[in-house]
Amino acid sequence: MTVQIDPVADRALKDKHRSMWALGDYPAVAAQIIPELGAALVQAADVRPGQRVLDVAAGSGNAAIPAALAGASVVASDLTPELLRTGRELAGRQGADLRWEEADAEALPYDEGEFDTVLSCVGVMFAPHHQSAADELVRVCRPGGTIGLLSWTPEGFIGEMFKVMKPYAAPPPPGVQPPPLWGSEDHVRELLGDRVTAVEAHRQTVRVDRFATPEDFRDYFKANYGPTVAAYRYIADDPEKVAGLDRDLADLARRHDIGTGTTVMDWEYLLVTARKRG
Ligand SMILES: C[S@@+](CC[C@H](N)C(=O)[O-])C[C@H]1O[C@@H](n2cnc3c(N)ncnc32)[C@H](O)[C@@H]1O
Repeated sequence: MTVQIDPVADRALKDKHRSMWALGDYPAVAAQIIPELGAALVQAADVRPGQRVLDVAAGSGNAAIPAALAGASVVASDLTPELLRTGRELAGRQGADLRWEEADAEALPYDEGEFDTVLSCVGVMFAPHHQSAADELVRVCRPGGTIGLLSWTPEGFIGEMFKVMKPYAAPPPPGVQPPPLWGSEDHVRELLGDRVTAVEAHRQTVRVDRFATPEDFRDYFKANYGPTVAAYRYIADDPEKVAGLDRDLADLARRHDIGTGTTVMDWEYLLVTARKRG
C-alpha cells in the first residue's frame, strides 16, 4: 500500500535521521562490532567481478567495500555524508575503488534497472517508510538482478534493544515504521511482492564478544551508536530516566550473555536474497 508522505515533514524527518546517524562513531561500531556482516551479505548475494552493485544505506561501507574488493563496480549511497566520508577513507586504505553518493533510500537518484545487484546491510531497515524504500530497491535493480538484504530481527538483540530504548526515546512521527520489521520474513516478502522470485530467507547470528561486561556494552553504545546517543540526549535532563536506561541496556546484555565469563552474545539477523522478475 502506498502512503502519502508530506514532503516538508519528510525532509525534516530525514534531516533528523541524518544528524542522528552522525552522532557518536557509527564507523567504529561497524568496524569493531559487526565487520563480518557486510562480507556475509556480499557472499550471499554472489557478487561477481564487473557487476554493477548499489549498496543502499551503506554507512561507512561495511558491504560496499567488500563488494568493491570482489571486483564489482560499486556505488555506496547513504543519507549521512559524515559516514560516506569515513567510508571513502577506509576504502582508500584498503585499496578499494568505489563511488560514494548521498541519497535517501526512499528516493534513489538512479535509473530503473541501473544495477545488477542491490544490497543493504542493516541499512534500508532504518528508512522510515518501508514500502517506499522497497519500491526503490526493486526499481533500480535490473530484471533478473539480485536484491540482498541483511536486517536485525525483531526478536534478536538489536530488535530488543530498540524496544528497550522506546520508552526513553523521542516518539517517532506518525507513519514511521519500526526498523526491525525488516527482520521479519513475512514483512519483507510482502514489501517486495510478486516483483521478485527465488526468495531465500535465513535467520542467522553474529557473535559479539568484545565486551567484558554488560555495562561495557552499554557504555560503548551510549558513546558510539547514533540512536542510543540520541535517546540519552532526549532524556538528559531527567536523571531517573538516564539511570533507568543505563540499567535496562545493561540488563538486556546480561539476558543475552551466553555465559562464558565475559559478555558474549549472539545477535540475530535475517538474510534475504531475491531475484527481480525478468
Ligand atoms: C546501522 S547503519 C548501517 C550502515 C552500513 N550498511 C553497515 O552495515 O554498517 C544504518 C545506516 O542507514 C542510513 N540511513 C538511515 N536512513 C536512511 C535513509 N532514509 N536513506 C539512506 N540511508 C539511510 C544511516 O545513515 C546509516 O548509515
